[in-house]
Amino acid sequence: MTKTKHTPVRRTGPAHVTRMDRRAFLATGGAALGATTLGMPRRARAQGRTEISFASASFFGSETFGDLVDSFNESQDRVMVRYLELPPPSSSTEVYQGLVQQLARGNGTPDVFSQDVIWIAGMAAAGWALPLDEFVDDAMTSQYFEGTLAACKWDGKLTALPWFMDTGMMYHRTDLVEKHGGTVPTTWAEMAKMGKAAQEAGDAEFGFVWQGKQAEVLVCDAVEAIASNNGAILSEDGRSSRIGDAEAIEAIQFLHDTINELQISPSDVLSWDEEPSRQVFTNGQSMFLRNWSYVWPIAQDPSVSEVVDKVGAGPLPHFEGGSSASTLGGYQLGMNANTSDRDAAWEFMSWMSAPEQQKRIALNFGLGPSRPALFDDAQINEEQPFMATLRPVFTGATARPVTPEYAKVTLALQSGISKALVNGRVEQEMKALSSQLDGIVG
Ligand code: GLC
Repeated sequence: MTKTKHTPVRRTGPAHVTRMDRRAFLATGGAALGATTLGMPRRARAQGRTEISFASASFFGSETFGDLVDSFNESQDRVMVRYLELPPPSSSTEVYQGLVQQLARGNGTPDVFSQDVIWIAGMAAAGWALPLDEFVDDAMTSQYFEGTLAACKWDGKLTALPWFMDTGMMYHRTDLVEKHGGTVPTTWAEMAKMGKAAQEAGDAEFGFVWQGKQAEVLVCDAVEAIASNNGAILSEDGRSSRIGDAEAIEAIQFLHDTINELQISPSDVLSWDEEPSRQVFTNGQSMFLRNWSYVWPIAQDPSVSEVVDKVGAGPLPHFEGGSSASTLGGYQLGMNANTSDRDAAWEFMSWMSAPEQQKRIALNFGLGPSRPALFDDAQINEEQPFMATLRPVFTGATARPVTPEYAKVTLALQSGISKALVNGRVEQEMKALSSQLDGIVG
């Protein structure tokens, strides 16, 4: 297998990239977005190009989205894009809040922005993301997965252009599975048993690591556990909560038990989001890891991973009587309804979503294409073999609640589930959370 060269975190970037850490972003309430993007490089103006800005959360890969923007700028001489790199996607809630404050100013900055799939309804309902129907036709939309297209629509209109998909999956240590039973576990109970056996034999410090930090990723982990027990966050019509139901309570109780009863997860998971848990796994300290697809290429990189060639990825386990569920993640492209140049914005967005760029993102960031054709691409299959085998996981992923009120829903979920995990009064906290959710969506 060809190895992709990997440097998970790049320290220097192209000159036109404006980096902003999470604290600076929040301190300005996203205002710095406007200020920095107004300061276009002179060189760009001198060239007489149309200048637009693009803001995106920064994903981990062997390159950055800034490198893609560079390639776009080099590929033609009409449009110059200035890239504003926002904090990593694990700060989804904060990045959303900052972007909303900026978009609400109505000054057209940033012209193009990437949207976590959970923001699409809110951005569209508020009128910040322009419906893209004038730019697309059936020939174009038929090239994307139907499920991704559906997730990009609000009120029947396409308000985001599909970019890449992300989905939760279970990583395991192939050597330890071999030693402790030979078959990758399919239920949570089997996984816990095997993880515990490996831990007790001294083969791994932890059986299972996941993300329990009070952040968006906790909602993702919870959705997976709950849906794999035939439960849900909201009822099918989205108007009432199901998080106080027995299925959901049992699922959150299991997450709590991984730390307290089963003792296969350290209590540190309660403060971990994606990267801390990923590091523990690629350091060789855990047998199982729940995470997103970006971990695969990192796990294969000998400069940062102790477990090269000892990692497998598969669907997440489920409860008896349930079936595996993965949270649908990923980022899609939005056009600011107030952009001063729709054509330039579209030119850039459609380039970003084209097969060549999606392939580059699959190879260099481990993120799933939104174009089915790329799942048959030979190079992607050679370098990221998990993608083809996990295609059904990508296409069958479970959505988080689709509602313009998602910002409120997620804050309630993050806080309620976190309390249950910390104080152990799972049923009581889930019931309280359920009434709170009813108040938001009812
Ligand atoms: C990943 C997913 C995104 C999710 C986030 C949570 O970046 O793509 O959808 O909200 O993780 O941390």
